[in-house]
Amino acid sequence: MITSALPYANGRLHIGHIRSTYLPADIHTRYLKNKGEKAFHVCGTDEHGTPILASAIRSGKKPQEIVDYYHKIIKQSLESTLIHFDIFSRTTKKHHYKLAQEFYIAAKKEGYIDYREVPILYCEKDRIALPDRLVVGTCPYCGAENQYGDHCEVCGRTYNAFQLKNPRCAICNSTPIIKHSRHAFFKLSELSDKLRDWVKNGVKLTKGVREHVLHWIREGLQDWDITRDIVWGVSVPDLPNQVFYVWWDAPIGYVSFTKELFDNLGLDWRHIWVDENGYIVHYIGKDIIYHHVLFWPAMLMVNGFSLPNEIRVRGFATLEGQKMSKSRGHVIDLEEFVEIWNPEYLRFYWGITTSESLDDGDFSLREFQAKINKVLIGEIGNFVNRVIQLIIRGNISKGSIEKEYVMNLIDKIDKYEKDINNNKFDEALNDVIEVAGIGNKLLSDREPWKNLNSEKAKNTLVTAHTMVVAISILGDPYLPVSCKKLREIIGIGNETNELLLNLKRLIQDEEFISHSLGTILNRKTKIKPLFAKVKESDINRMRHKLQGG
Ligand code: MF3
Ligand code: ZN
Repeated sequence: MITSALPYANGRLHIGHIRSTYLPADIHTRYLKNKGEKAFHVCGTDEHGTPILASAIRSGKKPQEIVDYYHKIIKQSLESTLIHFDIFSRTTKKHHYKLAQEFYIAAKKEGYIDYREVPILYCEKDRIALPDRLVVGTCPYCGAENQYGDHCEVCGRTYNAFQLKNPRCAICNSTPIIKHSRHAFFKLSELSDKLRDWVKNGVKLTKGVREHVLHWIREGLQDWDITRDIVWGVSVPDLPNQVFYVWWDAPIGYVSFTKELFDNLGLDWRHIWVDENGYIVHYIGKDIIYHHVLFWPAMLMVNGFSLPNEIRVRGFATLEGQKMSKSRGHVIDLEEFVEIWNPEYLRFYWGITTSESLDDGDFSLREFQAKINKVLIGEIGNFVNRVIQLIIRGNISKGSIEKEYVMNLIDKIDKYEKDINNNKFDEALNDVIEVAGIGNKLLSDREPWKNLNSEKAKNTLVTAHTMVVAISILGDPYLPVSCKKLREIIGIGNETNELLLNLKRLIQDEEFISHSLGTILNRKTKIKPLFAKVKESDINRMRHKLQGG
């Protein structure tokens, strides 16, 4: 069970969004499917929360209109980037509301909910409890005007919105009132010991993430205010006029969407989410570690649900060395990218430059062009192309596979699998590039084009062809469309679903290899190269756009 963090349905996705979450999750799922595993990639839009309500109020629309609009756009842009989901649902569905309420009722029954009066800043005009970010006013320290309720951009100090002088609602500019409201709290503090145990021994995390979370636990976990005085969200069964805080209902989407998917497939979602018969992996960005390693497992624990087995966290993306920013126009939306370039180029670029660490990664146009033209095309595309063209030119239909190279290739396949299982997707892609590198060297050393009729040339090309076969399968999670095209060219049919399970057999099977050569030779038309170069003019145009041109 592979999940990607649910994107908020209030904006477009840019090229950075797929780096930490959707792409690695997609690569992982595709890999597992190629291994014949029952793997599911589950996601959907996160459609509640005060920011969505605020943008609805600002634009004079209903929140439902906003989320309908962005749900569609987000879904399409992920599809166009070849991110496949087994389900991409929404948190505004009825069955999701029901499950979010059931989670609460169970938590209450187990004694993990209590009620406390909290002071809130409330805008009576917008009928919305204002979080710190939605209050503006005068900084209590330096007197700068028009500062947000959480920190001052002039003196840099942080505070809360109650401390602001002359507070105003950031949506409508009227003065909010202070109200006391009875909220439900989730008693996270009582779960500290259990969570510590689980973080230490129960879940697979990188060392950095584990230490981070243990540090938070040592500092002491606070009970968690899980309800809000707004009109957009999942209503709280025993608190009229309140809805759940968006972070209460959103992760429950992982379960409710699985249920929706499994109901359609005739499977039992409890198998995974209650009976611990699955292996659950969450993919997230580094800003939401607290929510996934503390809040969420705590919610699952008190409900008697299965806990995640692994949480894989990655850092953010910068663009040309700077933070992406919509307002400054320093951003490339996914939609914009795929209009100009093959979406596989973005997958390749992030694939090869993104490690398992929390480090941020840069999208640099120069680097992007080099990685595509020199590595993807120069190494992989070029190798595949050379082999196929030489096979056609020499009319090569059989030969013997050289043992030494096949043994080497088998080692590479093992290494690739180990890398993927260990969350090292950059290294796994590098393994694929290395296969092409070995193949290119084999061709340059042997120069089979000098006498394509010789036994030696035939054996060389048949051996090189086993590497092409391997690339068409190992590259698949990263470059699904091109690898499929390649497999069609070389006669690996669609009926071979469990591609990776068969690979080691295929590359040693001379009968298969000559069938594959036959498929290539039967093609009357010339086989076109798989990739086109990234053009200087497109790079320049994009650079110009980013510079405000
Ligand atoms: N919408 C949240 C964000 O973009 C992520 C929600 S993930 C889930 O930060 F766990 F709540 F589903
Ligand atoms: Zn207001």
